[in-house]
Order: sequence, then C-alpha cells, then structure tokens
Amino acid sequence: MQETREQILSALAEEPQTGPALASRLDISRAAVWKHIEALRDSGFVIVSETDGYRLESVPEFGASAIEFGLDAPFQLEYHDSIPSTNARARELAIDGESDVVVVADSQTGGRGRLNREWVSPSGGIWCSLLVRPDVPVAHAPVFTLAAAVTTAEALQTIGIDAQIKWPNDVLVDGQKIAGILSEMEGEADRLSWVVVGIGLNANVERDTLPEGSTSIRDERGDIERALLTRTLLETFHELRTNTERILPRWRKHAATLGQEVRVETPTDVVRGKAIAIEFPGKLRVDTGDGVETVTTGDCEHLRTTR
Ligand code: BTN
Repeated sequence: MQETREQILSALAEEPQTGPALASRLDISRAAVWKHIEALRDSGFVIVSETDGYRLESVPEFGASAIEFGLDAPFQLEYHDSIPSTNARARELAIDGESDVVVVADSQTGGRGRLNREWVSPSGGIWCSLLVRPDVPVAHAPVFTLAAAVTTAEALQTIGIDAQIKWPNDVLVDGQKIAGILSEMEGEADRLSWVVVGIGLNANVERDTLPEGSTSIRDERGDIERALLTRTLLETFHELRTNTERILPRWRKHAATLGQEVRVETPTDVVRGKAIAIEFPGKLRVDTGDGVETVTTGDCEHLRTTR
C-alpha cells in the first residue's frame, strides 16, 4: 500500500484525527490528506467525518488494501475479484521478470489443481499464488511446497482449526481436504529461476459447492476475516522461505502421513507400506516390509491409521 495511506490508516487506528492534525503529522498539505482519504474510501475503507475529525469505521473484508493494511512481509499484492487462475497470472508475472508478488482472487474461473485437475474456486475462498525467486538449486524446489503446507496448517491453527498435512501438500481436517497447494517452477543452469506456490484455501465457502471429500473454514467454525488470514499466510510463508531449515521440523509437527499405512502412486510405480519419515527437500520414506523406499513425487492415499 502507498506509504502515506498506510500512515493515515495507522493514525486513524489509534484515534480519530482532524485533517490539519494528519497534515502536520505526515508533513503534507490538507488537500493531499483529503485526496488520500478519498482514495482509501474508494478502496473500501469506511472513514467517516465527525466533529473530532476522520474516524475509521471499518476496513474492507478482502482485497489488496485490506490485505496490505498491517502486512509484515515484503510482497506486492495483485488482487482480482475474479480471474481464471492466480497461478497462471503469477507465471505471467514470473516471465515478465517480477518477484515477491502475490496474486489473490476472490474467485477463479479456471482454478487448477495437481495433475491438471480442476480446482473448484467459488467466491469466498482464499485463492492465492506467491511468486518468489529463492537462490537455491532446482532440486530444492519441493521444500517451498512443504513450506506452503506448513503455512496453511499454522494459519488454520490461529483460528482454532486443527489441520494436518497429507504428504506432499494436502491440508486436511479430520480427513477432509480444506486446502491444496500447487507449485510450479522454472530453473536455469541448475538454479531456481522462480517458483509459484499456489494455495487454495476453502475459506468462507459452502462445503456443498466443493468436490466430495472437501471441507471449508465456514463449515468447520464459521466465516473468518479473510484479509487477516491471508496476512498470516504471507507472513508465515515469508518467515519460512527465509529460514528454510525450519520447514521440515514444522512439517513433521503437522504431518498426518507419518506413521500411516500409505499407497503412493508415483509416475512409474506404486509403493505401499508405512510412511516413516520425511527428508529434505520433501522425500517420503516408506517402509514396504521388504526395505525402505524413497518417494519424491506421487499421489498418496492413507490406507489406515497405525499409530
Ligand atoms: C491440489 O490440491 O490439487 C492443489 C490445488 C491448488 C489450488 C490453488 S488455488 C490458487 C492457485 N491457483 C490455481 O489455479 N491453483 C492454485
């Protein structure tokens, strides 16, 4: 958000402010204050004029300004009420050379999931894609998908939802899928050029509008303030991408897969056994009974609980 507007909002969050007080506090003209107030009103902030000055009555529920207000992570926001796919848009931005951008949408008309599946994305969800350029080898890319799963599980925890991660990247509540992650990347000379990490979180949406086996924040505990939860997601993801050694220990804490009997369909094989460990940058170790196999990618099914 434009810095002066951020400062005006911070001042109004403390107490009502007169135009002249804001002008002298920010060292701008009264006309400039008025223009910024109008711009904030246009982006959904309800600011009323009263005898003691401007008062911030409410902030928008969602949108770029709502998310950026108080955001403590260095991401540029691009918001769309509706877009085919935030991942597709973030890829375009990657090709244009952008970095540290987050594309957020209220709804998607062509949301994509893993294995090219459709991702149902009605209005009310948190559909977002983070474009980052970590300076690491291409082989490290999967750890950013794990980071997004940790980010999502921990964000859900802040609103009282106990979510678990199914390897590699599904976020579940009591076995029902509440969020999914789709990462796309490009590398050059064995360094990552960019990664787009797409998070689809079924937030203020009805479970009935989602595919079988899904759940939503609305169904688990009622609607939440999406701007706040999106800020939490962005701040945690930023913390993890800059401290990658924290990702696996935190993933293990939220893992539903470890200790489970699993069936993993890899691109070439089917591996069945007990999931015993996760290794950097996201490999699953499966004890098949005949030895331990390492799986780097695949569709994982939990067969039954063994712990
Ligand atoms: C999956 O579990 O299959 C992954 C789903 C990922 C969906 C998100 S929603 C935001 C971003 N944009 C997309 O088109 N997909 C991802």
